[in-house]
Amino acid sequence: MSKEVYLHEVHKWALAPEAYPNFKLSEHTNDINLTLEEDFLIESTTSTTAAHILIKRFVENGTNFWFEDYLKSKNLVLTEKYSFLPTTEEAYQDIKYDNSEVFKVFINTLESLFNYGQIWNLSGLIEKKTLGELIFPFGEGVLIDEFAQSETQRTDISQWIIKFKQMSDVRQSQFFEIYNLLKRKGMIAELLFRSLEESNVDFIEEYSEDIVLGDIDDPEVIKMLQEQEIMEIEDEVPDLIKDDIKQRDLAGNQQDYLESRLQYVGDNQLITENRDAVMMKWEYKIMKLSADTLFSKTVPMKGFPTPNPDVVDVDDKIVNVLNIGFGMGIIDTYIQENIEELSIKYPNKEFKHYIVEAHPDVLQQMEKKGWFNKKNVVVLKGRWQDELMKLLDDNIFFNGIYYDTFSEHYKDMLELYDTIIGMIKYENGVFSFFNGLGSDCVFFYDIYKDLVKMDLFEKYGLKCDYKNMVVDTINEGTWDGITKNYFDCPVFYHPMITFNHDM
Ligand SMILES: C[S@@+](CC[C@H](N)C(=O)[O-])C[C@H]1O[C@@H](n2cnc3c(N)ncnc32)[C@H](O)[C@@H]1O
Repeated sequence: MSKEVYLHEVHKWALAPEAYPNFKLSEHTNDINLTLEEDFLIESTTSTTAAHILIKRFVENGTNFWFEDYLKSKNLVLTEKYSFLPTTEEAYQDIKYDNSEVFKVFINTLESLFNYGQIWNLSGLIEKKTLGELIFPFGEGVLIDEFAQSETQRTDISQWIIKFKQMSDVRQSQFFEIYNLLKRKGMIAELLFRSLEESNVDFIEEYSEDIVLGDIDDPEVIKMLQEQEIMEIEDEVPDLIKDDIKQRDLAGNQQDYLESRLQYVGDNQLITENRDAVMMKWEYKIMKLSADTLFSKTVPMKGFPTPNPDVVDVDDKIVNVLNIGFGMGIIDTYIQENIEELSIKYPNKEFKHYIVEAHPDVLQQMEKKGWFNKKNVVVLKGRWQDELMKLLDDNIFFNGIYYDTFSEHYKDMLELYDTIIGMIKYENGVFSFFNGLGSDCVFFYDIYKDLVKMDLFEKYGLKCDYKNMVVDTINEGTWDGITKNYFDCPVFYHPMITFNHDM
């Protein structure tokens, strides 16, 4: 039997604003984040707010047929037959977003919702989508040329792109306008959170989760130990220690991580005792691109613009590159291959490869694989927080620095910027990192892309360009046996950060 439900005023209005010309948001501020699920007293993992409804309605050309499906899916019927929920397409004909006035009212309404406290990162509606995903379900990255040219498009994505491209230019630009507004709201929330954190303002627990973007790269602790053949580095870890480790957040807490044991699963994965992936082989194309990036401002590298010949390296006899975080050594292997090739091409240059690594098990693996004996490699054993200071003291400057650690967060990267700003060669230095910031949701990933750019520019005057790479090495089995899928975006935004010589 279906359950009879009423609609709250704010949801009625969101479903048909034109039927409520006298509706005043300011009189409903307490209900801005009220969800349909609360309204209908149903248990749900989604939180469909008025903003979700308004945006969904925009995407569906002003119709609410999706809402009927939503009710059906939850086995609900409305107690009243609302006249503002017409059942034929014709009845919706009046709502035309391509009329600029109608769209202006819509976008101003969205803006007002946020001004009255709309939470920006809730997942809502049947598809469990964030507000941003309602606009661009696969993120804005799939609309770039690289994606259009790639052969390995997922059919769901290409079908969505075809539909999007069939829309009028005006409507397409409206999608971007809404998405940009949503991204801006996410960035503001992150900046606000950061400043509150810096000034040690206490958070009310239940709200902090909703507004904190800085926490979205924190792993969910899902204890999922599946059977799989594992090559351990050393003998079995005693059960007592294992039980203790299970309680600890190895992916989120650096100290716990460094004290825990790691396992190399063939040459496919490096995982913690909790089966968090520290590093996985599917990243190999990203690592190749990253290894090439480190040399790309110094010598011509395939796929990169030729370095500006007018830029003079004050110390061009020595080419230094630094990798922070060895993991499976994928990037370091590519760096070595590059050095081998470049040493032949440029016999007068000396190439030096520094590696900072903190985990004892990884260091042991490095020793086993001969990394300590390579002639142009310097291994710094310890955390970058301690080791980089030594390089700074020795006045060593770098052509390329790469950062890819584990159990660290965006705030650690902000700290890293303070250090490496004094280590990158001004003329032809480049800094890059594995960009997994917010990468378990396309909307968050797009926000972080802009936030990083802004942080680097505002604080250091650095320029951050992204090279887009279509991710085609993740398949259905990639995350089998791993606690958490940490990368769920079709396009990787590869950052290349340099000093801004135009300033
Ligand atoms: C994701 S893996 C690096 C993978 C590497 N890019 C590759 O191509 O295989 C992260 C590595 O960073 C190391 N690490 C984590 N925190 C660190 C820190 N504070 N300083 C130095 N290394 C750290 C981890 O032990 C791990 O080996």
